[in-house]
Parts: sequence; C-alpha cells; structure tokens
Amino acid sequence: TSSRSYTIAVLPGDGIGLEVMPPALRCLEAAAKRFGFNLEFRHFPWASCTYYHEHATMLPKDWKKDLQACDAIFFGAVGDPATVPDHISLWGSLLLFRREFDQYINLRPCRLMPGVTSPLANREGKPIDFITVRENTEGEYSSIGGRIFEGTDRETVIQNTVFTRIGVDRVVRYAFELARSRPAKRLTSATKSNGISITMPYWDERVEAIAKEYPDVKVEKYHIDILCAHFVQRPHTFDVVVGSNLFGDILSDLGPACTGTIGIAPSANLNPTAKRDDPNQEWLPSLFEPVHGSAPDIAGKGIANPVGMIWAGQMMLEHLGEKEAASAMLLAIENVLKEAKNAHDRGESNILTPDMHGNGTTEELGGEIEMEIGRVS
Ligand code: NAI
Ligand code: MG
Repeated sequence: TSSRSYTIAVLPGDGIGLEVMPPALRCLEAAAKRFGFNLEFRHFPWASCTYYHEHATMLPKDWKKDLQACDAIFFGAVGDPATVPDHISLWGSLLLFRREFDQYINLRPCRLMPGVTSPLANREGKPIDFITVRENTEGEYSSIGGRIFEGTDRETVIQNTVFTRIGVDRVVRYAFELARSRPAKRLTSATKSNGISITMPYWDERVEAIAKEYPDVKVEKYHIDILCAHFVQRPHTFDVVVGSNLFGDILSDLGPACTGTIGIAPSANLNPTAKRDDPNQEWLPSLFEPVHGSAPDIAGKGIANPVGMIWAGQMMLEHLGEKEAASAMLLAIENVLKEAKNAHDRGESNILTPDMHGNGTTEELGGEIEMEIGRVS
C-alpha cells in the first residue's frame, strides 16, 4: 500500500447530494488507484434533514471529534425546505463547520467548461478561467449590533462590519500567493471605499501594504458595482479576485453564473494554515462541496449533474497535495464534456444531464468521467 493515505469524511446530506456523491467517490477512487495513493471514506448519515427527523438535531454529540479524525470533509448538499426550515438545516451543519473549523477562505473557480452554453463564451477567442477568493469568517457578516425601541417610532437597527488585521491580511495574502502561483499573476481586489468610508479604505490599505511583498503580481482594484459589470462584460480578463465576506459572496455567485449552469460549479472552504500533525495546534479540516443545494425539484430522478461534486473532489485532491491526480481529474471532466457536447451538436443522443440540454443521467455522466480519469494523459 501507498504511504500517501487520506481519510475523508463523506457527508452526502439531502436530495441530490445523495445522488451525486456515489459517482464522485468512484471518480476519486479511480484517481487514487491510478496515481498510487489511498483514500479511506468515512460515511456519516448526519448533517442531513433525514437525520434531523429522527434525532431532532442535525448533528450527533461527537460530530466535531469525528470530523477532526479526517484529513478533509467532502460535503454534498443539505436542505429539505418542505419539512425543515433552511436556517436550521444550514446553520446546524455547513455554517457551523465553516465557523468551528475557522475555514477563512472560500474559493470558487470560474472556468468556462466545454459543453456549457454561455452568452459570455469566446470573447476575443479567450477562455474564462479565474478564481474568486472570499473572506469567510468576519467582515459584513459579523453578528454585532442589535435592535432597540422595537415596534415604536424610534425603532432602530444597527449592524457593524468587523475587519480585523489578522482576518484581512490572511485572506489578502492567500490571494496574492495564489496569484503568484498562476501564469497570469494578476490580482483584482473588490472595494467600495468611495461609499463605505472607514472599513473599505482599511481593506485597500492592507492590500497595498501586502502588495509590496509581491512585486511580481499585478494588482488592480475596482468598486464592487463596476466590478460586477466587468465580470459580465469581460470575464476572460480576470485571474484571481479577492473580496470581503459580502463582496466575495456576491462575486462568487456571479462568477460561476458567468460560466453556465450551477450544476457544475465547485467550492472549497479552507483553513490553509491548519496542520494535521502539529501537537501545538488544533486540527481544523477543510471542506469541499458543490455550489448547488439539494435541488428538491429534481431529487430522486437520477438526472442531477454530478460535475459540481466531482470537481469539488478535484479541489480536495489539489488541497491534499495530489497535484497530478487533480490535473488528470480536471482534464477528464473537460474531455468528457467536450465529447458529449460534440455528440449533442451532431444531434446525437449524449450523456450531458438535462441542465446542460442533454439526455444523460447522473450515473452515465459520472461513470464516463470515472473511466476517463483512468486513461487521460
Ligand atoms: P438548489 O441549488 O438546490 O437548486 C436551484 C436550481 O438549480 C433548481 O432548479 C435545481 O434543480 C437546479 N440544480 C441545482 N443543482 C443541480 C444539479 N447538480 N444538476 C441539475 N440541476 C441542478 O437551490 P435551492 O432550490 O434554492 O435550494 C434547495 C435547498 O438546498 C434549500 O433547502 C437550500 O437551503 C439548500 N441549499 C443548500 C446548499 C448547501 O448545502 N451548500 C447551497 C444552496 C442551497
Ligand atoms: Mg452566495
């Protein structure tokens, strides 16, 4: 057996999470087999509404210990809005993991894949291939503030934004490192220092200070409003885009939307500094998931697009240091989508799922990617 071995917590959740997880695990197995490492999957039924119905809680008492015994968390989608309110299912699982494991980076690659029809494709013949880096723990989403004089004429509501130097610097520095590692070496910072006159100038100030450590990276900043326009008008010009919690949230939905269906977009919630084998710090695992939710409208039909989940697995391998396997997985996804798209364009039956205008199933599309992982070069 290989010396490279990883334990993965598998949490499929609800709805189509249960359908896209099995093909994604088979793709990961195929990559492990081909590139000579081991994956041990630990399957957990909790962090799902099914579990909630039986136990009146989303998580068992020892959830944290169970997850901390793993190298990474592979998460499907949670939610059954017809029977459990979303704030209970999401805050009782995913959002709790992000906070408890201090997953301060949220990454979303925005890459136009073959087979995806997008009105933004092929501008100036250039591909769309950028990545958004969102601050995931503080900023505008800090629960500081409150209401007074409720129900009276003086009713007053205040919520504060919290930028800490630690919080801003670590996400900005991560984005610079990422930009440095990519061929284009460009970083775009989202700001709004013309309107938000205290916190946003501070953000800009930290970006400028940290930029001095990265003279090889080209830096630009845009106010969030015009940046959204640029995402739509010239998506092919971006490389790494960094934003606060709120701005990053907006950009990280807009970015994948610029590259087609929600069914293929992946996301990583990272604590990049946590060390598994350091006895002096607590192990805080990172989490990998598709962007989409549990899709109750198509759940049970076997037609969910598995690419978002498989691509999230690809990001997980990259994070675990299995770069070769990660590159092969990405190439396999591209090859299979390209091939199926060609069949679709010739008017032939193809394995693209219905959200990509094909007539394939979750198992067919996932199975083809699994086979391609075994043979791509
Ligand atoms: P959703 O992402 O589940 O679905 C939105 C639309 O996209 C639906 O029409 C769905 O059929 C389609 N879609 C999504 N994923 C697809 C895929 N892989 N293949 C083909 N079509 C796909 O978002 P929605 O409907 O707003 O939320 C449903 C439930 O999921 C709610 O309970 C919500 O809270 C939860 N949710 C959970 C997330 C998570 O676990 N990270 C993220 C987003 C929503
Ligand atoms: Mg969002």
